Amino acid sequence: MKLQQIRLYLSIFSVIYFFSLSQLCDADFMCGSGWMYVNTFPGKCLKLFTSPQEFEDARKKCWDNGGQLMTMLETINQLIFGESSIREHRYWIGLKCDKEDKENDCQWIRDMEMKNTTKPIDEDKYLCGTVDKNRRLNYLSCSEKSSFICETNPECDKITYGAKCSKRCSPYCGGQDKACNKKNGSCVYGCVDGYQGELCDRECGKNMYGAKCSKHCSPYCGGRDKACKNINGSCIGGCVDGYQGQLCDRKCGNKTYGVKCSKLCSPYCGGEDKACNNMNGSCVYGCVDGYQGELCDRECGNNTYGAKCSKHCSPFCGGKDKACNNINGSCVGGCVDGYQGELCGRKCDNKTYGVKCSKRCSPYCGGEDKACNNMNGSCVYGCVDGFEGELCDRAECENNSYGANCLENCSPYCAGANNTCDKINGTCLFGCVHGYQGAWCNEEKPNETQSVVDRHKTFIYSHEAIISSILFVLAVLSAFLLLPKVRSAEERLSRYTSSMEQEDQF
Ligand SMILES: *[C@@H]1O[C@H](CO)[C@@H](O)[C@H](O)[C@H]1NC(C)=O
Ligand SMILES: *[C@@H]1O[C@H](CO)[C@@H](O)[C@H](O)[C@H]1NC(C)=O
Ligand SMILES: *[C@@H]1O[C@H](CO)[C@@H](O)[C@H](O)[C@H]1NC(C)=O
Ligand SMILES: *[C@@H]1O[C@H](CO)[C@@H](O)[C@H](O)[C@H]1NC(C)=O
Ligand SMILES: *[C@@H]1O[C@H](CO)[C@@H](O)[C@H](O)[C@H]1NC(C)=O
Ligand SMILES: *[C@@H]1O[C@H](CO)[C@@H](O)[C@H](O)[C@H]1NC(C)=O
Ligand SMILES: *[C@@H]1O[C@H](CO)[C@@H](O)[C@H](O)[C@H]1NC(C)=O
Ligand SMILES: *[C@@H]1O[C@H](CO)[C@@H](O)[C@H](O)[C@H]1NC(C)=O
Ligand SMILES: *[C@@H]1O[C@H](CO)[C@@H](O)[C@H](O)[C@H]1NC(C)=O
Ligand SMILES: *[C@@H]1O[C@H](CO)[C@@H](O)[C@H](O)[C@H]1NC(C)=O
Ligand SMILES: *[C@@H]1O[C@H](CO)[C@@H](O)[C@H](O)[C@H]1NC(C)=O
Ligand SMILES: *[C@@H]1O[C@H](CO)[C@@H](O)[C@H](O)[C@H]1NC(C)=O
Repeated sequence: MKLQQIRLYLSIFSVIYFFSLSQLCDADFMCGSGWMYVNTFPGKCLKLFTSPQEFEDARKKCWDNGGQLMTMLETINQLIFGESSIREHRYWIGLKCDKEDKENDCQWIRDMEMKNTTKPIDEDKYLCGTVDKNRRLNYLSCSEKSSFICETNPECDKITYGAKCSKRCSPYCGGQDKACNKKNGSCVYGCVDGYQGELCDRECGKNMYGAKCSKHCSPYCGGRDKACKNINGSCIGGCVDGYQGQLCDRKCGNKTYGVKCSKLCSPYCGGEDKACNNMNGSCVYGCVDGYQGELCDRECGNNTYGAKCSKHCSPFCGGKDKACNNINGSCVGGCVDGYQGELCGRKCDNKTYGVKCSKRCSPYCGGEDKACNNMNGSCVYGCVDGFEGELCDRAECENNSYGANCLENCSPYCAGANNTCDKINGTCLFGCVHGYQGAWCNEEKPNETQSVVDRHKTFIYSHEAIISSILFVLAVLSAFLLLPKVRSAEERLSRYTSSMEQEDQF
């Protein structure tokens, strides 16, 4: 420190001189009797020693009193010199300067730090500092004799402790002034939240926090060690899935779940509030109809529907895959023939059948209720009289008629009584009469010409008999009425017969 700086310093503080009664009251308590307390920072205890000593002896004396020569110029402003100082007008302070280097080198001698001292050999090299009662700074040869001022530290204040108050109370001591025991530093009012130990110098242990470290971090703190802040318990590694809040003490709500409650429960969760497990999202009350899976995120498949997908689509659902609506089972592709209803669970009724039950059973179906097969319309109890076919949609043909509206006649060459033939296609039921063949008996058998000729002969003979009778009648008639015309009549007759013979030959 330079001399000029020290002078300036001193003069500034000399101006502001004040005196406080309270300092006197504190003095005995904090400094011991005979010492005065000065309220600088840090506070000091001062004492005037009025028997003159050489500098180094004065210094030794201060040491023996547990202190050192005064080292702080600020303190001089509060120093009371009193009556005893009238004769003695100068006092050593702990300032020592190198004679040869007046400009630069003055040093405070701080024995409280250096502990022990030994007198330097070449004393003449130095000048030592004094102040007078007018608070002026002077320098003398260190071997001159002078009164001197010693200083010591006061008792520790509230926030320091230990030897020479060199240690600070923990900042985590509790209470308004964070006081600690002056000897061993233990905090007077316990610790602030998050700290423990008599000195309040340790954070709460693993997974504990708060006042007296008595609270447990939430078990839902995330991260490998599930740690939380020692002071307020907020989780360091976030929360595990399904929990939220700085303390991870709240389950996900509002139909959310998972990491940071960022996922939404399925809208197909069942129950009134559609709640899902806060951690993995599985629906608490199962799924609404038509959905499955723990998360209720899959529609019913495999032709099932409804609650828990436990119902099966109707086997009469139409379409390629016979699928039905996953919720209410109504068939997606309509129904197969013969079934109706959204679920295709009802057979056609009311005497209907077929696609969408849009066809009507024949009114000629038999039986009491005239029912027909719901799919293909075939009458269950046959037809009423006069109708036939599986659908009873054809009138039955009489005797030897057949075909649509029975307009065709059975071949006269069908064998059996009444020339019976198939009512639908006209084929002869009992074969053909002799000389005919084919399903309809309309083909002559070529090898039976002989018998055909015989039959022609019979045919001709019968004609001749009729003709003979006619001739006989004509003869009688002509005998009475037409005698003159007998010849020409005979001629016509012969022409008639010859034309008949010609017809026979085709
Ligand atoms: C201080 O020094 C003296 C002699 O120089 C010695 O006897 C004494 O033990 C020392 N004190 C300490 C505390 O070192
Ligand atoms: C500190 O001193 C106080 C008062 O004497 C005592 O109650 C406390 O147990 C001491 N603490 C330690 C750590 O020694
Ligand atoms: C807890 O303390 C930490 C860090 O001191 C802070 O970031 C956080 O906001 C605090 N939480 C609460 C709930 O006070
Ligand atoms: C649900 O949402 C409301 C409104 O957004 C909010 O006030 C409430 O805290 C939420 N509840 C939970 C449990 O997250
Ligand atoms: C979800 O958690 C619940 C309850 O712990 C459990 O019963 C269920 O099996 C879990 N679901 C899944 C998909 O992990
Ligand atoms: C259909 O059934 C098969 C076999 O049981 C199964 O593997 C598949 O997951 C089912 N599909 C659906 C959508 O349920
Ligand atoms: C079934 O659901 C489908 C689709 O939502 C709807 O069109 C149909 O009318 C429903 N059927 C019944 C019987 O509720
Ligand atoms: C049958 O038809 C009648 C008249 O069209 C109707 O009133 C009745 O409900 C029908 N019955 C069924 C089972 O569809
Ligand atoms: C209609 O279905 C019934 C019952 O399956 C069957 O016996 C009948 O032969 C069918 N008729 C027709 C014309 O397919
Ligand atoms: C032939 O027809 C008559 C009159 O229609 C009938 O009485 C008779 O039973 C029928 N004969 C046969 C074998 O069908
Ligand atoms: C005529 O109908 C009958 C009976 O249905 C059947 O056996 C026969 O094969 C049919 N004949 C022809 C040529 O269609
Ligand atoms: C017709 O009948 C004669 C003998 O009556 C026989 O020789 C000939 O092979 C038959 N022809 C046919 C086509 O049956």
